[in-house]
Amino acid sequence: MGNRMCLKSSVYILAAWVALCSCTVRNIQNTTLDVDRNLAYCDSQVQKALKEISGKNGMPRNILHNEAHWNLCPVEITEWTVGFWPGILWYNYENTGDMEDKDAAVYYTDLLVPLTTLPVYDHDIGFQLFCSYGNAYRLTGYEKYKRIILNAADTLATLYNPEVGTILSWPREVEPNNWPHNTIMDNMINLELLYWAAKNGGDKRLYDMATRHAETTMKNQFREDGGNYHVAVYNTADGHFIKGVTHQGYGDSTLWARGQAWAIYGYTMVYRETQDKKFLRFAEKVADLYLRRLPEGEYIPYWDFDDPDIPNAPKDASAAAIVASALIELSQLEDNREKAEVYRLAATNMLVELSSEKFQSRASKPSFLLHSVGHWPAKSEIDASINYADYYYIEALTRYKKMLEKGEVKRRFLSLQRREKKSPNLFP
Ligand code: GLY
Repeated sequence: MGNRMCLKSSVYILAAWVALCSCTVRNIQNTTLDVDRNLAYCDSQVQKALKEISGKNGMPRNILHNEAHWNLCPVEITEWTVGFWPGILWYNYENTGDMEDKDAAVYYTDLLVPLTTLPVYDHDIGFQLFCSYGNAYRLTGYEKYKRIILNAADTLATLYNPEVGTILSWPREVEPNNWPHNTIMDNMINLELLYWAAKNGGDKRLYDMATRHAETTMKNQFREDGGNYHVAVYNTADGHFIKGVTHQGYGDSTLWARGQAWAIYGYTMVYRETQDKKFLRFAEKVADLYLRRLPEGEYIPYWDFDDPDIPNAPKDASAAAIVASALIELSQLEDNREKAEVYRLAATNMLVELSSEKFQSRASKPSFLLHSVGHWPAKSEIDASINYADYYYIEALTRYKKMLEKGEVKRRFLSLQRREKKSPNLFP
């Protein structure tokens, strides 16, 4: 029995290997990731950053290419990344279990309180309040955090247009761009806030809104090959799709790496929440395109897969971190064992490359990662350390550790079962 199982899993790994080498990513390395070492590295960088920013009321936002210290952003509703630093601190506390790390997470989460009762600004309320308070509640169960998340979900829902079937992502862009109802791919991530609220005492209609948003986006905001338009523009009155354009990519129809990363992460999450297989198949489609288009033998994408300057264009570590985190989840949700192996191997390689000397900041800066691109068309945050790259990196490492632990528990359980069969008195 043991040999048969072992043979069976070897066949799956081999099949996944062949699939990976032939049709998704070329020249894959069978690497192992030292997850504990990299989580310890994250902790040491967090401690350096905490010391550096102590006494200043802002959130670490970026460290530009030629700089060595965090630039802080003010805690404002217009600043979409304010929730990532508290989120990083919560993941770090989850991994260290140290009460001082918890105190730091509580302190920076509390800085966001003034934002929690403001009227809606845009869809980023999800990034701002779910990456922070979502993790805070998950790890503490404090009722005050739960109330804030439920309120944030209701606030986000005020942007939903039932004629279109999606959330209006950027109210501020309606006039200047003549984008009457605009929905951006990043908005997929913020559906998680609505699903969470619907399951945790909020309005059940939030679930339907989130699912309809995912369906409408799937129908309109993707090209045949699975690549997406950053922005979908809709007619407000009758809801018809007008056009797909870019805001942060190289061109309207190019493959902006982080936009595709949001899609992979978003549809994986929507499948987890709905268990509807059409979303699983779609997550595979958008992930497979991304993997096929990675540079040969590499796992960190150029900031836009279609930048004509490649190979001289900058890479984007943030996209790789988001995708690594998403693929770890996708590999565990898969109903196809070969594909699960492909995604697990790809995520491992992404994290190994992100954890290399080339991509980790190490002694040079108090961030985790170097080499992300924030907004290339605006020439902003090019080849920088950025807080969301760090957030998804520590999330991916944490998910990876849990995946290994789950595998270990399962292996132990199966081995106990086998021993029980051999000696039935083991559990009298
Ligand atoms: N949500 C904005 C970005 O991905 O840069």
